[in-house]
This record gives sequence, structure tokens and C-alpha cells, in this order.
Amino acid sequence: MKFEPQHVGSWTRRRFVQMGAITALAAGPLSSVDLRADAPLRSMIGVAFKKRDPRIAIIGTGGRGTSLLGDLLAANAQVVALCDIVAAKAQAAGASVVKAGQKQPDLFTNGPHDFERMLKRTDIDFVVVATPWTWHAPMALVAMKEGKDVAIEVPGVTTIEECWNIVNTSEQTGKHCIMLENCCYGYNETLILRMIHAGLFGDLLYGEGAYLHDLREELFSNAGEGLWRRTEHTKHDGNLYPTHGLGPVANYMGIQRGDRFAHLVSMSTPHRGLEEYRKAHLKPDDPRFGEHYLTGDMNTTLIKTASGLTITVKHAVSTPHPYDRINLIAGTKGIFEDYPPRIYFDGLNKDESWEGIEKWKEYEHPLWKREGEAARQNGGHGGMDYIMLYRLLQCVREGLPPDMDVYDAASWASVAPLSELSVSQGSAPVQFPDFTRGQWSSRTASAIATQD
Ligand SMILES: NC(=O)c1ccc[n+]([C@@H]2O[C@H](COP(=O)([O-])OP(=O)(O)OC[C@H]3O[C@@H](n4cnc5c(N)ncnc54)[C@H](O)[C@@H]3O)[C@@H](O)[C@H]2O)c1
Repeated sequence: MKFEPQHVGSWTRRRFVQMGAITALAAGPLSSVDLRADAPLRSMIGVAFKKRDPRIAIIGTGGRGTSLLGDLLAANAQVVALCDIVAAKAQAAGASVVKAGQKQPDLFTNGPHDFERMLKRTDIDFVVVATPWTWHAPMALVAMKEGKDVAIEVPGVTTIEECWNIVNTSEQTGKHCIMLENCCYGYNETLILRMIHAGLFGDLLYGEGAYLHDLREELFSNAGEGLWRRTEHTKHDGNLYPTHGLGPVANYMGIQRGDRFAHLVSMSTPHRGLEEYRKAHLKPDDPRFGEHYLTGDMNTTLIKTASGLTITVKHAVSTPHPYDRINLIAGTKGIFEDYPPRIYFDGLNKDESWEGIEKWKEYEHPLWKREGEAARQNGGHGGMDYIMLYRLLQCVREGLPPDMDVYDAASWASVAPLSELSVSQGSAPVQFPDFTRGQWSSRTASAIATQD
């Protein structure tokens, strides 16, 4: 059955509390969420954006916010307000909006809560959040409560409570909260997704995703992410950044669309990388020698889906490693693995050898066919950033539902806190909450795969 919003009906508070209690038992302690007693919870699955050319505000105009701004401007998006605690960053971003031929956006630079003042404005439709991780949830919640759709940067939100908070607030307000998981829009990822939907890989069995990226220099930088991201390594041991590897594999497998993450187990190696880097590169009296890191240098998490498929997700950012997201998917008829992209199909490849993906160009995604040139010219990360934002704008401008919704955001983000919980309990199995409250089994495939 094709899923339509009316199949969901509304969820009473009582029903939600019942479901929440089951999840709490399964996934560890959940504290209460911000619920108005009388507010019905209505599923956001399949809910279309209000059709309009959205007036956009960005919170966080650092490295990522500036890069997203460039792509938004290239896609002719209207940017009306910018917010950053560092006035010079907001001003520089504002100058690029003016350079693109738009009027000077209003700047909000009066401290860490000035975003709240900005979000009270009624001439903002859509908010992009590109701040440090712990700010994503508070900013997304205020945006939705102020009547705006919101897109948060990866890794989305950081606790199970925050996962439920974005789901509940989205359902209560009728506003979307999506995660800007750009890797879902990569050239290879969208091509493989279409090949999977054409049945070329047979029945899927397992996948692998990763974030293997040597960030040691960046983590110790005195600017940008060095100002906040290293701190996360002093607080958690688990997979801190799961979604770049996991999002595309979840799309391949139709997670939240006929299948769902059921449980995970997770284990980490010892942590040595940041300690050794610090010893080699910092002066002996540097205050950062007082930091105690917790994050294992390699975290490996194994997820089992409700249909029995398995997914391995890895995270390693503090040891030498060439950039790699693995991006592997395997089924009964073949296997694809990235870095470099290679494919093997039963009966097609000789001598059990891999082949490149060039000959499968007929499966190139329509978005890349149409916008690939602009993407490669404008977009970061090989063009996938531009493709993601172009498509997001298209969904709003044409009044379509988003490709990735709040349930995707919550379930992908939940791997970080759940992996931490498993690691802390000797790699014990940990159940995933069902953020869709049962709707995952009746949905159709991701719009990324199905659009023409
Ligand atoms: N999808 C991707 O490929 C990708 C790439 C890089 C970063 N990111 C993500 O983007 C986010 C931002 O990362 P970044 O590299 O731009 O970091 P950054 O440190 O360069 O930028 C963060 C910005 O947020 C501002 N900020 C902090 N607190 C604020 C507040 N309360 N109100 C307003 N502004 C505030 C900072 O001043 C800074 O300018 C992170 O979630 C990161 O993981 C994603």
C-alpha cells in the first residue's frame, strides 16, 4: 500500500506515553519531553512542504554554514537573515549574499541565544542550522515552535531524548525537521540506489558505512571545529559521527520504508591518537594536556534490521587513514563497494574480479543528469552538497514532501548515543526506539530513488 498521511491518524498524548515507555525500557532511560497535554501528535510521514519560494535564515556561518550558503545562493535561494556568535563571520556571509545580488540580510550576532530573537520573525520560512552539535536540537525545536521548517547539519541531534524531542515537536507543530545528510545525494550513492531499485543486486543482505577521516590537525586547530569538536572526544566513547556512512546504506535498505533498525552492538578500541598527536605537536605547557579523551580511535557498530539485514558502521577520526566512507551494499546477485567505486555481479564479472561503475551510466540519477554540471561547478564534496540543496529547494518550491524526514534524522542520529550505551555495557545489544511508532512497515521507498 502506498503510504498517505491520512492512514496515520492522530496520536493522543496517552498513546505516545505508552509507546515512549516501551522504548524507554528497550533503549535506556528517556526523560520527559516537551509535550502540551492537548497537542495531538500527527505523523509527518508523507507530509508536503507548504509550496513557496522559501525565505531562508542560517544559524552558524562558520565553515559549513558558509559553504551551504554558497550552494543556496547558486540555486537562487532567498537568504533573509544570518546568525552567528562571531559578528565578523555573519558579516562576511552577509557580504556574499549582497554579492549574489540580494538585499543585505539581517544579522543576529548578540550572543548564543540571539537565534531565538531571529526566529521570532515572521518573514522566515526555512532555517538551516550549521552550528556545533549540541546546539542543533535546541535551535531546531525553537525554529519549529516558531512555525518554521528546519534543516540541521549532521550528525543531527546527540541524545535519545533529543531524537524524541525533534520527532514530537515536528508532529505537534506540523513543521519538518530534516537532517542535511549530503552523502545521500552523492553521485555513486544515487546511482547505486537506482540500481538497487531496478533489482540488480537481488535481495539485499548487508551493508557497510563509515566515517574514516583523519581530523587530528582540525581537532587541535585554534579555529573552526577545533574550538568545539575535540571536546566531544572528552565526553563520549562510541560512534560520534555515524550518518555520512549510514544514511546512504539506510536508503539502499529502505530503512523507515519497509524495514527499520532493530538493535545494535558496538565496541571501541583504546584511544591513543589524540594523545600522541598532542605530544608531537603541542608545547609542553599547552592547557590541552589537561584534557582526558574517551573516544576510542576506532568504533565499530553492528546494526541488525527488523528484516534481519546487517550494517557495519565505523568511526575513526583520530588516527592516520585516507578518507573513506566504505559505502558497501551486498545482495544475492552482487556487491558494490566504494573508495574506489567497484562492482561485482554474479555471472557478469570474470575471475571474481571487480569492475568499475562506468558502464552503469544509464542508472545515473535524474538529479545528476540535470544538475550535475552546476553541482560540480558550485558544490562542495564533489557536488553532492549542491544536489542536496537544489533538491531540498525543489521539494519546498513544488510543495512536495522531503526525501528525508524527521524519522530518518532521529533514527540515523540515534546511533551515536545508542553505540555509546552499548560500549559502556560491554558491547551489550541495545534496542532502537521506533520513531515512526509503527509506520515504517507501510511506507514506500525514498523519494530519492523513485523520482524521475
Ligand atoms: N555535511 C558535511 O559534509 C559537513 C561538513 C562540515 C561540517 N559539518 C557539520 O556542520 C556543523 C558546523 O560545522 P562547521 O565545520 O561549520 O563548524 P564551525 O566551527 O566552522 O562553525 C560553527 C559556527 O557556529 C557558530 N556558533 C556557535 N554557537 C552558536 C550559537 N549559539 N548561535 C549562533 N552561532 C553559533 C560559530 O561561531 C561558528 O561560526 C557541524 O554539525 C558539523 O558536524 C557537516
